[in-house]
Amino acid sequence: MMRFSRALIPALLAAWLYRGRHSFLNSIFTNPIPHLPDAYLYSGDALSSCETLKAPDLKYCEDITFWDVHNGDNTEKRLIITCDAGRKEWNTVMGPLQNPEPHGSLWVYSPSEDKHVRIVLDNYPAGHDFHPLGIEVYPSYSGNASNMYVVNHARDRTTIEQFVISPSSPSAKYVRTLTSPWFIAPNALALTSPDSFYVTNDHVMTRRLSYVGHVLPLAETLLTLPLSFAAHVTLDPNPASESPIVSHSIAAPFIPFANGVSISPSGDEVAIASTSLSQIFFYERNATTNELKYKSMEKVPFTTDNVNYDESGALIVGGHPHFPTLASVAAKKADVAPSWVVALTPRTLGESESESRTEFDSSVPLPAHQKVPPPKNYEIQTLFQSNGNFFSSSSTGLRDLKAGKLYVAGLYADEGVLVCKV
Ligand SMILES: *[C@@H]1O[C@H](CO)[C@@H](O)[C@H](O)[C@H]1NC(C)=O
Ligand SMILES: *[C@@H]1O[C@H](CO)[C@@H](O)[C@H](O)[C@H]1NC(C)=O
Repeated sequence: MMRFSRALIPALLAAWLYRGRHSFLNSIFTNPIPHLPDAYLYSGDALSSCETLKAPDLKYCEDITFWDVHNGDNTEKRLIITCDAGRKEWNTVMGPLQNPEPHGSLWVYSPSEDKHVRIVLDNYPAGHDFHPLGIEVYPSYSGNASNMYVVNHARDRTTIEQFVISPSSPSAKYVRTLTSPWFIAPNALALTSPDSFYVTNDHVMTRRLSYVGHVLPLAETLLTLPLSFAAHVTLDPNPASESPIVSHSIAAPFIPFANGVSISPSGDEVAIASTSLSQIFFYERNATTNELKYKSMEKVPFTTDNVNYDESGALIVGGHPHFPTLASVAAKKADVAPSWVVALTPRTLGESESESRTEFDSSVPLPAHQKVPPPKNYEIQTLFQSNGNFFSSSSTGLRDLKAGKLYVAGLYADEGVLVCKV
Protein backbone atom coordinates (compact mmCIF):
# COMPACT_ATOMS: atom_id res chain seq x y z
CA MET A 1 0.00 0.00 0.00
CA MET A 2 2.74 2.35 1.06
CA ARG A 3 4.77 1.60 -2.05
CA PHE A 4 1.72 1.96 -4.25
CA SER A 5 0.88 5.44 -2.98
CA ARG A 6 4.50 6.57 -3.13
CA ALA A 7 4.56 5.82 -6.82
CA LEU A 8 1.04 6.96 -7.43
CA ILE A 9 1.29 10.48 -6.03
CA PRO A 10 4.22 11.65 -8.19
CA ALA A 11 2.61 10.00 -11.19
CA LEU A 12 -0.65 11.82 -10.56
CA LEU A 13 1.22 15.08 -10.03
CA ALA A 14 3.16 14.56 -13.25
CA ALA A 15 -0.09 13.93 -15.09
CA TRP A 16 -1.66 17.13 -13.70
CA LEU A 17 1.44 19.14 -14.55
CA TYR A 18 1.52 17.73 -18.06
CA ARG A 19 -2.14 18.59 -18.53
CA GLY A 20 -1.56 22.16 -17.35
CA ARG A 21 1.72 22.64 -19.21
CA HIS A 22 0.56 25.35 -21.64
CA SER A 23 -0.98 27.32 -18.85
CA PHE A 24 2.12 27.08 -16.62
CA LEU A 25 4.51 27.88 -19.45
CA ASN A 26 2.51 30.74 -20.95
CA SER A 27 1.12 32.50 -17.93
CA ILE A 28 3.40 31.64 -15.03
CA PHE A 29 6.93 30.62 -16.05
CA THR A 30 7.43 32.92 -19.01
CA ASN A 31 6.67 36.61 -18.93
CA PRO A 32 4.81 37.80 -22.07
CA ILE A 33 4.74 41.46 -21.02
CA PRO A 34 7.81 42.56 -23.08
CA HIS A 35 6.13 41.09 -26.20
CA LEU A 36 2.77 42.77 -25.65
CA PRO A 37 1.95 46.18 -27.17
CA ASP A 38 0.66 49.19 -25.23
CA ALA A 39 -2.61 48.67 -27.05
CA TYR A 40 -3.83 46.51 -29.93
CA LEU A 41 -7.43 46.48 -31.19
CA TYR A 42 -8.41 44.03 -33.94
CA SER A 43 -10.54 46.45 -35.93
CA GLY A 44 -8.35 49.55 -35.98
CA ASP A 45 -6.33 51.97 -33.91
CA ALA A 46 -6.96 51.36 -30.20
CA LEU A 47 -5.84 54.84 -29.16
CA SER A 48 -8.46 56.61 -31.28
CA SER A 49 -11.19 53.93 -31.06
CA CYS A 50 -11.25 53.23 -27.32
CA GLU A 51 -11.97 55.27 -24.24
CA THR A 52 -12.61 54.47 -20.60
CA LEU A 53 -15.76 55.27 -18.64
CA LYS A 54 -14.87 57.87 -16.05
CA ALA A 55 -16.45 58.32 -12.61
CA PRO A 56 -15.20 58.16 -9.04
CA ASP A 57 -15.41 54.54 -7.81
CA LEU A 58 -15.89 53.19 -11.36
CA LYS A 59 -12.65 51.25 -10.89
CA TYR A 60 -11.48 47.67 -10.33
CA CYS A 61 -14.40 46.19 -12.30
CA GLU A 62 -14.70 42.40 -12.48
CA ASP A 63 -17.75 41.73 -14.60
CA ILE A 64 -19.84 43.35 -17.27
CA THR A 65 -23.00 41.87 -18.71
CA PHE A 66 -25.55 42.88 -21.31
CA TRP A 67 -29.00 43.96 -20.24
CA ASP A 68 -31.17 43.52 -23.30
CA VAL A 69 -33.88 46.15 -23.17
CA HIS A 70 -36.50 45.24 -25.80
CA ASN A 71 -39.06 47.78 -26.95
CA GLY A 72 -41.05 46.62 -29.96
CA ASP A 73 -38.53 45.94 -32.72
CA ASN A 74 -35.81 47.91 -31.00
CA THR A 75 -33.31 46.28 -28.62
CA GLU A 76 -30.72 48.25 -26.75
CA LYS A 77 -27.90 46.22 -25.26
CA ARG A 78 -27.18 48.20 -22.11
CA LEU A 79 -24.22 47.31 -20.00
CA ILE A 80 -24.34 46.44 -16.30
CA ILE A 81 -20.98 46.66 -14.54
CA THR A 82 -19.69 45.40 -11.16
CA CYS A 83 -16.83 47.32 -9.55
CA ASP A 84 -15.16 47.29 -6.15
CA ALA A 85 -12.91 50.26 -5.45
CA GLY A 86 -11.84 48.49 -2.23
CA ARG A 87 -10.68 45.34 -4.03
CA LYS A 88 -7.06 45.82 -2.95
CA GLU A 89 -8.23 45.49 0.68
CA TRP A 90 -10.78 42.71 0.12
CA ASN A 91 -10.52 39.96 -2.51
CA THR A 92 -11.67 36.51 -1.45
CA VAL A 93 -10.27 34.90 -4.63
CA MET A 94 -6.72 36.33 -4.68
CA GLY A 95 -6.43 38.03 -1.30
CA PRO A 96 -5.95 40.07 0.79
CA LEU A 97 -8.73 39.81 3.37
CA GLN A 98 -8.08 43.08 5.19
CA ASN A 99 -11.06 45.43 5.12
CA PRO A 100 -14.51 44.36 3.90
CA GLU A 101 -16.17 47.61 5.02
CA PRO A 102 -16.32 49.90 1.89
CA HIS A 103 -19.05 48.80 -0.51
CA GLY A 104 -18.52 48.02 -4.18
CA SER A 105 -20.77 49.52 -6.85
CA LEU A 106 -22.99 48.67 -9.82
CA TRP A 107 -23.21 50.81 -12.94
CA VAL A 108 -25.39 50.94 -16.03
CA TYR A 109 -24.15 52.21 -19.39
CA SER A 110 -26.45 53.07 -22.29
CA PRO A 111 -24.66 52.99 -25.66
CA SER A 112 -27.44 54.95 -27.43
CA GLU A 113 -27.05 57.85 -25.00
CA ASP A 114 -23.33 57.16 -24.39
CA LYS A 115 -24.06 57.69 -20.70
CA HIS A 116 -23.15 55.78 -17.53
CA VAL A 117 -24.68 56.15 -14.07
CA ARG A 118 -24.20 54.44 -10.74
CA ILE A 119 -27.10 52.17 -9.80
CA VAL A 120 -28.66 53.12 -6.46
CA LEU A 121 -29.46 50.04 -4.35
CA ASP A 122 -32.92 50.55 -2.78
CA ASN A 123 -33.73 48.75 0.48
CA TYR A 124 -30.27 47.14 0.70
CA PRO A 125 -29.95 45.78 4.27
CA ALA A 126 -27.90 48.00 6.57
CA GLY A 127 -24.71 46.34 7.74
CA HIS A 128 -24.69 43.82 4.86
CA ASP A 129 -21.39 43.86 2.94
CA PHE A 130 -21.43 44.42 -0.82
CA HIS A 131 -18.54 43.09 -2.92
CA PRO A 132 -20.03 42.35 -6.33
CA LEU A 133 -18.37 39.89 -8.68
CA GLY A 134 -20.31 37.95 -11.35
CA ILE A 135 -23.59 39.51 -12.44
CA GLU A 136 -26.40 38.70 -14.83
CA VAL A 137 -29.73 40.34 -15.55
CA TYR A 138 -32.80 39.01 -17.35
CA PRO A 139 -33.92 40.92 -20.47
CA SER A 140 -36.60 43.59 -20.14
CA TYR A 141 -39.65 43.54 -22.43
CA SER A 142 -41.86 46.60 -23.13
CA GLY A 143 -40.46 48.44 -20.15
CA ASN A 144 -40.99 45.71 -17.52
CA ALA A 145 -38.55 45.23 -14.68
CA SER A 146 -35.81 42.56 -14.81
CA ASN A 147 -34.54 40.18 -12.19
CA MET A 148 -30.84 40.79 -11.54
CA TYR A 149 -28.48 38.48 -9.63
CA VAL A 150 -25.08 39.46 -8.25
CA VAL A 151 -22.41 37.30 -6.60
CA ASN A 152 -21.41 39.06 -3.37
CA HIS A 153 -18.12 38.28 -1.61
CA ALA A 154 -19.36 39.28 1.83
CA ARG A 155 -17.05 38.94 4.83
CA ASP A 156 -18.31 35.66 6.29
CA ARG A 157 -19.45 33.89 3.17
CA THR A 158 -20.24 34.45 -0.47
CA THR A 159 -23.91 35.04 -1.19
CA ILE A 160 -25.99 35.80 -4.27
CA GLU A 161 -28.05 38.99 -4.07
CA GLN A 162 -31.31 39.30 -5.99
CA PHE A 163 -32.55 42.68 -7.21
CA VAL A 164 -35.16 43.95 -9.66
CA ILE A 165 -34.19 46.75 -11.97
CA SER A 166 -36.41 48.76 -14.27
CA PRO A 167 -35.22 50.39 -17.52
CA SER A 168 -36.81 53.70 -16.58
CA SER A 169 -34.95 54.16 -13.29
CA PRO A 170 -31.27 54.20 -12.28
CA SER A 171 -32.03 52.20 -9.12
CA ALA A 172 -32.27 48.50 -8.32
CA LYS A 173 -34.61 47.24 -5.63
CA TYR A 174 -33.14 44.65 -3.24
CA VAL A 175 -35.27 41.50 -3.15
CA ARG A 176 -33.39 38.93 -1.03
CA THR A 177 -30.05 37.33 -0.20
CA LEU A 178 -29.57 33.74 -1.37
CA THR A 179 -27.33 31.46 0.67
CA SER A 180 -26.61 27.76 0.48
CA PRO A 181 -24.03 25.33 1.85
CA TRP A 182 -23.38 24.69 -1.86
CA PHE A 183 -22.34 28.31 -2.44
CA ILE A 184 -18.73 27.58 -1.48
CA ALA A 185 -17.03 30.16 -3.68
CA PRO A 186 -19.53 31.43 -6.27
CA ASN A 187 -17.90 33.45 -9.03
CA ALA A 188 -19.99 33.82 -12.19
CA LEU A 189 -23.65 33.46 -13.22
CA ALA A 190 -25.65 32.65 -16.36
CA LEU A 191 -29.44 32.93 -16.17
CA THR A 192 -31.67 30.19 -17.58
CA SER A 193 -34.94 32.01 -16.73
CA PRO A 194 -35.93 35.00 -14.55
CA ASP A 195 -35.76 32.60 -11.56
CA SER A 196 -32.95 30.13 -12.31
CA PHE A 197 -29.26 30.18 -13.18
CA TYR A 198 -25.97 28.39 -13.53
CA VAL A 199 -23.36 29.41 -10.99
CA THR A 200 -19.67 28.48 -10.99
CA ASN A 201 -17.71 27.88 -7.78
CA ASP A 202 -14.06 28.77 -8.37
CA HIS A 203 -12.53 26.77 -5.51
CA VAL A 204 -13.64 24.35 -2.84
CA MET A 205 -10.74 25.30 -0.57
CA THR A 206 -11.12 29.01 0.08
CA ARG A 207 -9.04 31.77 1.59
CA ARG A 208 -11.54 32.17 4.38
CA LEU A 209 -10.39 28.84 5.95
CA SER A 210 -8.46 29.51 9.16
CA TYR A 211 -4.70 28.75 9.16
CA VAL A 212 -4.75 26.83 5.85
CA GLY A 213 -6.52 29.62 3.93
CA HIS A 214 -3.23 30.95 2.56
CA VAL A 215 -1.97 27.62 1.33
CA LEU A 216 -4.81 25.37 0.23
CA PRO A 217 -6.46 27.63 -2.39
CA LEU A 218 -3.05 28.26 -3.93
CA ALA A 219 -2.32 24.54 -3.95
CA GLU A 220 -5.73 23.91 -5.51
CA THR A 221 -4.93 26.49 -8.21
CA LEU A 222 -1.33 25.49 -8.97
CA LEU A 223 -1.98 21.76 -8.95
CA THR A 224 -5.02 22.47 -11.16
CA LEU A 225 -7.05 20.14 -8.94
CA PRO A 226 -10.38 19.51 -10.67
CA LEU A 227 -12.45 20.24 -7.58
CA SER A 228 -14.58 23.18 -8.58
CA PHE A 229 -17.87 22.95 -10.40
CA ALA A 230 -20.88 24.65 -11.95
CA ALA A 231 -24.34 24.10 -10.52
CA HIS A 232 -27.84 24.87 -11.69
CA VAL A 233 -30.08 26.59 -9.17
CA THR A 234 -33.85 27.04 -9.39
CA LEU A 235 -35.59 29.56 -7.14
CA ASP A 236 -39.07 29.96 -5.79
CA PRO A 237 -40.21 33.12 -7.62
CA ASN A 238 -42.16 34.22 -4.53
CA PRO A 239 -39.78 36.72 -2.84
CA ALA A 240 -41.36 35.97 0.55
CA SER A 241 -40.68 32.24 0.28
CA GLU A 242 -39.09 30.67 3.37
CA SER A 243 -36.97 28.37 1.22
CA PRO A 244 -35.97 30.40 -1.84
CA ILE A 245 -33.80 27.65 -3.37
CA VAL A 246 -36.11 25.01 -4.80
CA SER A 247 -33.37 22.90 -6.37
CA HIS A 248 -29.59 22.79 -6.66
CA SER A 249 -27.92 20.32 -8.96
CA ILE A 250 -24.30 19.91 -10.00
CA ALA A 251 -24.37 20.54 -13.75
CA ALA A 252 -20.63 20.34 -14.51
CA PRO A 253 -18.31 18.76 -11.92
CA PHE A 254 -14.50 18.35 -11.82
CA ILE A 255 -13.36 21.66 -13.31
CA PRO A 256 -10.02 23.13 -12.17
CA PHE A 257 -10.73 26.75 -11.01
CA ALA A 258 -14.10 27.18 -12.76
CA ASN A 259 -14.62 30.84 -13.52
CA GLY A 260 -16.76 32.48 -16.24
CA VAL A 261 -19.91 30.78 -17.58
CA SER A 262 -22.10 31.69 -20.56
CA ILE A 263 -25.03 30.24 -22.53
CA SER A 264 -24.90 30.36 -26.35
CA PRO A 265 -27.51 32.43 -28.24
CA SER A 266 -29.21 29.22 -29.42
CA GLY A 267 -29.41 28.04 -25.81
CA ASP A 268 -28.00 24.59 -26.56
CA GLU A 269 -24.38 25.14 -25.53
CA VAL A 270 -22.64 26.35 -22.37
CA ALA A 271 -19.02 27.50 -22.07
CA ILE A 272 -17.13 27.45 -18.77
CA ALA A 273 -13.64 28.88 -18.24
CA SER A 274 -11.02 26.88 -16.34
CA THR A 275 -8.67 29.61 -15.13
CA SER A 276 -5.76 27.48 -13.95
CA LEU A 277 -5.73 25.34 -17.12
CA SER A 278 -6.18 28.37 -19.46
CA GLN A 279 -8.97 26.45 -21.14
CA ILE A 280 -12.61 26.68 -22.11
CA PHE A 281 -14.84 23.66 -21.54
CA PHE A 282 -17.82 23.41 -23.88
CA TYR A 283 -20.98 21.54 -22.89
CA GLU A 284 -24.12 20.48 -24.70
CA ARG A 285 -27.10 21.90 -22.84
CA ASN A 286 -30.55 20.38 -22.54
CA ALA A 287 -32.65 23.55 -22.41
CA THR A 288 -35.55 21.69 -20.77
CA THR A 289 -33.66 20.08 -17.89
CA ASN A 290 -30.58 22.37 -17.85
CA GLU A 291 -28.38 19.27 -17.74
CA LEU A 292 -24.95 19.70 -19.29
CA LYS A 293 -22.96 17.12 -21.21
CA TYR A 294 -19.23 17.66 -21.73
CA LYS A 295 -18.45 18.20 -25.41
CA SER A 296 -14.98 19.61 -26.00
CA MET A 297 -12.18 21.76 -24.66
CA GLU A 298 -10.07 24.53 -26.22
CA LYS A 299 -6.83 26.11 -25.05
CA VAL A 300 -6.32 29.87 -25.03
CA PRO A 301 -3.02 31.75 -24.50
CA PHE A 302 -3.78 33.18 -21.01
CA THR A 303 -5.44 32.26 -17.73
CA THR A 304 -9.12 32.62 -18.51
CA ASP A 305 -11.51 34.77 -16.51
CA ASN A 306 -15.01 35.61 -17.79
CA VAL A 307 -16.62 34.35 -21.01
CA ASN A 308 -19.53 35.77 -23.02
CA TYR A 309 -21.08 34.73 -26.33
CA ASP A 310 -21.83 37.50 -28.79
CA GLU A 311 -24.92 37.39 -31.03
CA SER A 312 -23.00 35.60 -33.83
CA GLY A 313 -22.18 32.68 -31.52
CA ALA A 314 -18.50 33.62 -31.05
CA LEU A 315 -17.27 33.26 -27.49
CA ILE A 316 -15.44 36.34 -26.16
CA VAL A 317 -12.86 35.31 -23.57
CA GLY A 318 -11.12 37.75 -21.24
CA GLY A 319 -8.14 36.90 -19.11
CA HIS A 320 -4.71 37.38 -17.66
CA PRO A 321 -1.57 36.61 -19.70
CA HIS A 322 0.78 36.77 -16.69
CA PHE A 323 -0.69 35.51 -13.45
CA PRO A 324 2.29 36.45 -11.19
CA THR A 325 1.97 40.11 -12.25
CA LEU A 326 -1.76 40.04 -11.53
CA ALA A 327 -0.98 38.60 -8.09
CA SER A 328 1.59 41.40 -7.56
CA VAL A 329 -1.05 44.01 -8.40
CA ALA A 330 -3.46 42.34 -5.94
CA ALA A 331 -0.69 42.51 -3.32
CA LYS A 332 -0.01 46.20 -4.15
CA LYS A 333 3.50 45.35 -5.39
CA ALA A 334 2.83 46.34 -9.03
CA ASP A 335 0.56 48.95 -10.61
CA VAL A 336 -0.72 47.26 -13.73
CA ALA A 337 -1.12 43.77 -15.18
CA PRO A 338 -1.48 42.86 -18.87
CA SER A 339 -4.74 42.28 -20.76
CA TRP A 340 -5.76 39.85 -23.51
CA VAL A 341 -9.19 39.25 -25.03
CA VAL A 342 -9.86 36.69 -27.77
CA ALA A 343 -12.86 35.47 -29.77
CA LEU A 344 -13.37 31.73 -30.31
CA THR A 345 -15.51 31.31 -33.42
CA PRO A 346 -16.84 27.86 -34.33
CA ARG A 347 -15.17 26.61 -37.53
CA THR A 348 -17.54 26.19 -40.39
CA LEU A 349 -17.93 22.66 -41.75
CA GLY A 350 -15.92 21.79 -44.79
CA GLU A 351 -12.69 23.48 -43.80
CA SER A 352 -10.14 20.80 -44.37
CA GLU A 353 -8.22 19.45 -41.42
CA SER A 354 -5.05 19.24 -43.47
CA GLU A 355 -4.96 22.97 -44.15
CA SER A 356 -1.95 24.56 -42.54
CA ARG A 357 -3.03 26.37 -39.43
CA THR A 358 0.33 27.18 -37.94
CA GLU A 359 -0.03 30.91 -38.62
CA PHE A 360 -3.44 31.56 -37.06
CA ASP A 361 -4.04 34.90 -35.31
CA SER A 362 -0.94 36.16 -37.09
CA SER A 363 -1.50 39.92 -37.53
CA VAL A 364 -1.22 40.58 -33.80
CA PRO A 365 1.83 41.81 -31.83
CA LEU A 366 1.80 38.60 -29.74
CA PRO A 367 -0.10 36.02 -31.83
CA ALA A 368 -1.95 33.16 -30.15
CA HIS A 369 -0.09 30.67 -32.37
CA GLN A 370 3.12 31.38 -30.44
CA LYS A 371 1.44 30.12 -27.29
CA VAL A 372 -1.08 27.38 -28.06
CA PRO A 373 -1.62 24.64 -30.64
CA PRO A 374 -4.30 25.31 -33.30
CA PRO A 375 -7.76 25.07 -31.73
CA LYS A 376 -9.57 21.95 -32.95
CA ASN A 377 -13.07 23.20 -33.61
CA TYR A 378 -12.66 26.95 -33.45
CA GLU A 379 -10.84 29.89 -34.97
CA ILE A 380 -9.06 31.96 -32.36
CA GLN A 381 -8.70 35.71 -32.95
CA THR A 382 -7.16 38.32 -30.66
CA LEU A 383 -9.56 41.25 -30.21
CA PHE A 384 -7.59 43.28 -27.69
CA GLN A 385 -4.13 43.14 -26.18
CA SER A 386 -2.23 45.43 -23.80
CA ASN A 387 0.88 45.18 -21.65
CA GLY A 388 -1.18 46.94 -18.98
CA ASN A 389 -0.07 50.50 -19.68
CA PHE A 390 -3.12 51.31 -21.83
CA PHE A 391 -5.58 49.01 -20.05
CA SER A 392 -4.83 46.77 -17.10
CA SER A 393 -5.96 43.30 -16.00
CA SER A 394 -8.80 42.43 -18.42
CA SER A 395 -11.26 40.13 -16.69
CA THR A 396 -14.18 40.34 -19.15
CA GLY A 397 -14.73 41.02 -22.85
CA LEU A 398 -18.16 41.66 -24.38
CA ARG A 399 -18.99 42.39 -28.00
CA ASP A 400 -22.12 44.05 -29.39
CA LEU A 401 -21.79 43.52 -33.15
CA LYS A 402 -24.89 45.53 -34.02
CA ALA A 403 -23.83 48.62 -32.09
CA GLY A 404 -20.19 48.00 -33.12
CA LYS A 405 -18.77 47.98 -29.60
CA LEU A 406 -16.20 45.95 -27.71
CA TYR A 407 -16.25 46.38 -23.95
CA VAL A 408 -13.46 45.25 -21.61
CA ALA A 409 -13.54 45.24 -17.80
CA GLY A 410 -10.31 45.53 -15.81
CA LEU A 411 -10.14 43.81 -12.44
CA TYR A 412 -7.52 46.28 -11.21
CA ALA A 413 -7.92 49.05 -13.81
CA ASP A 414 -8.14 52.52 -12.24
CA GLU A 415 -10.70 53.41 -14.91
CA GLY A 416 -12.51 50.10 -14.83
CA VAL A 417 -14.23 49.75 -18.23
CA LEU A 418 -12.88 50.24 -21.73
CA VAL A 419 -15.36 51.02 -24.54
CA CYS A 420 -14.03 50.51 -28.08
CA LYS A 421 -15.74 51.28 -31.38
CA VAL A 422 -15.26 48.23 -33.66
C1 LIG B 1 -40.96 40.69 -17.97
O1 LIG B 1 -41.58 40.08 -19.05
C2 LIG B 1 -41.00 38.84 -19.44
C3 LIG B 1 -41.69 38.38 -20.72
O2 LIG B 1 -43.09 38.38 -20.55
C4 LIG B 1 -41.13 37.82 -18.34
O3 LIG B 1 -40.51 36.61 -18.72
C5 LIG B 1 -40.45 38.37 -17.10
O4 LIG B 1 -40.65 37.51 -16.02
C6 LIG B 1 -41.02 39.75 -16.77
N1 LIG B 1 -40.19 40.28 -15.67
C7 LIG B 1 -40.70 40.63 -14.49
C8 LIG B 1 -39.71 41.04 -13.45
O5 LIG B 1 -41.87 40.62 -14.26
C1 LIG C 1 -33.80 16.78 -22.50
O1 LIG C 1 -34.15 15.94 -21.41
C2 LIG C 1 -35.48 15.42 -21.51
C3 LIG C 1 -35.77 14.68 -20.22
O2 LIG C 1 -34.75 13.77 -19.91
C4 LIG C 1 -35.57 14.54 -22.73
O3 LIG C 1 -36.89 14.03 -22.87
C5 LIG C 1 -35.23 15.36 -23.96
O4 LIG C 1 -35.20 14.55 -25.09
C6 LIG C 1 -33.85 16.00 -23.79
N1 LIG C 1 -33.63 16.92 -24.90
C7 LIG C 1 -32.52 16.87 -25.64
C8 LIG C 1 -32.41 17.89 -26.71
O5 LIG C 1 -31.65 16.05 -25.44
